[in-house]
Amino acid sequence: MNKPTVDVKKILQQDNHLVHSFANLNDLKDPDSRTVITRAEGPYVYDGAGNQYIDGIGGLWCVNVGHGRTEIADAVATQLKELDYYSTFYNLTHPLAAELSEKVTQMAPGNLNKVYFGNSGSVANDTAVRMLQHYFNRKGLPSKKRILSRVGAYHGSTYMAIAMTTPAYRDGWDSADHLVDFLSSPYPYRRPENMTVDEFSDFLIEEMVETIEKIGAENIAGFIAEPIMGAGGVIVPPEGYHRRAWEICQKYEIMSISDEVVTAFGRLGHMFASKDFFDIQPDIICSAKGLTSGYQPMSATIISDDIFDVISAPGGMFMHGMTYSGHPACCAAALANIRIIENEDICGHVRREGPKFELGLKTLETLDIVGEVRGSHFMMGIEFVKDKTSREPFEQESNIGSMVAQHAQRRGLIVRPLGSMAVLSPCLTLNAQQIDKVVSILQESIAAVSNEI
Ligand SMILES: Cc1ncc(COP(=O)(O)O)c(C=O)c1O
Repeated sequence: MNKPTVDVKKILQQDNHLVHSFANLNDLKDPDSRTVITRAEGPYVYDGAGNQYIDGIGGLWCVNVGHGRTEIADAVATQLKELDYYSTFYNLTHPLAAELSEKVTQMAPGNLNKVYFGNSGSVANDTAVRMLQHYFNRKGLPSKKRILSRVGAYHGSTYMAIAMTTPAYRDGWDSADHLVDFLSSPYPYRRPENMTVDEFSDFLIEEMVETIEKIGAENIAGFIAEPIMGAGGVIVPPEGYHRRAWEICQKYEIMSISDEVVTAFGRLGHMFASKDFFDIQPDIICSAKGLTSGYQPMSATIISDDIFDVISAPGGMFMHGMTYSGHPACCAAALANIRIIENEDICGHVRREGPKFELGLKTLETLDIVGEVRGSHFMMGIEFVKDKTSREPFEQESNIGSMVAQHAQRRGLIVRPLGSMAVLSPCLTLNAQQIDKVVSILQESIAAVSNEI
């Protein structure tokens, strides 16, 4: 049994000054509603009382190589001693920014040969939109400004990223709505009644074409999509959907932005999922999280030669920049992290163990309140329903996802509640025994909730 190493009461008092992300700030006034995590090792995290939990959400879908990797910590420390900070503004660069830019673009598919580094997934997506708008300005097509997104999407919290995020995420908040148009979520489980999945897929593509025709392709800069929607409910689109949507983009000269903030760097068994998993060649890939496995805040907006050629042609300036773009410590963390992914063949591990994780979790579909278990490899979600046959959802107030998450936490597993869902995105190093443990804790937790309601 681990001993408490910290004064939890004092921490929670200090924490009263912290504005938490995506939280009900009123509920958080109760100190008992907050959990203090103090340390982490491998696939586990520990709370202030010394309790161990399997980190079923890998930090926040980001700790791909697992916690406590001294190679990454050492690489960051070494770099900070050598060159603590210098920028990549103007004509300046430094060795690790150069090395990482070469490495990331070599791994990215096709002609994605240039990269802009930022510090979050939100910034990666905002950067993509700014670059595209500038690209079209320079091509003499200044009306191409709008972005197509999808209901259920999550693209971040900065002003543009939240505008491209599903409207449900900004109730009571403002955003740049005039720049974004939403298509339906490619959510097969909740497709319209009397539609087969194939018919649903046709419907989605027809809707996309109709929307483009209505707005006019001359007004649309890009289509942004997560390969598998994460925060929107782990939505795996119908087979062939991404390819068909990408072909529409090609036809209408709309740039395709693949938001791989979650899916890149191994989560689906590949460094990038767009080409290897979904057979598309986006014009821009945005990534973050797994790029450093969360050890340092870093993102990458990886762009095609075509975009770069236009924005780097004589007669204009690249008027975009952030002090910490390509920060030496972040580059060191990313390079050390990528070395681990490659040396330990983490993508191969995910391709082998991921299907077992899927199968294990699928067994939960026999439980009364489990409507669907879905996802792919180490990106999974469990949707709870009141009635399995009619798929009737639980009322929002029932907080069913939170109830399951609380039961799981008591049993040593942290999962993310998401409305009527529990979501899993563990560290990619999870082994067969740990996978079994996750499944058995969930089995008990869901059964307990089922008895309670
Ligand atoms: C698909 C996707 N895009 C973008 C973001 C935003 O990333 P960040 O929180 O680093 O700004 C997230 C965060 O969860 C995400 O899941």
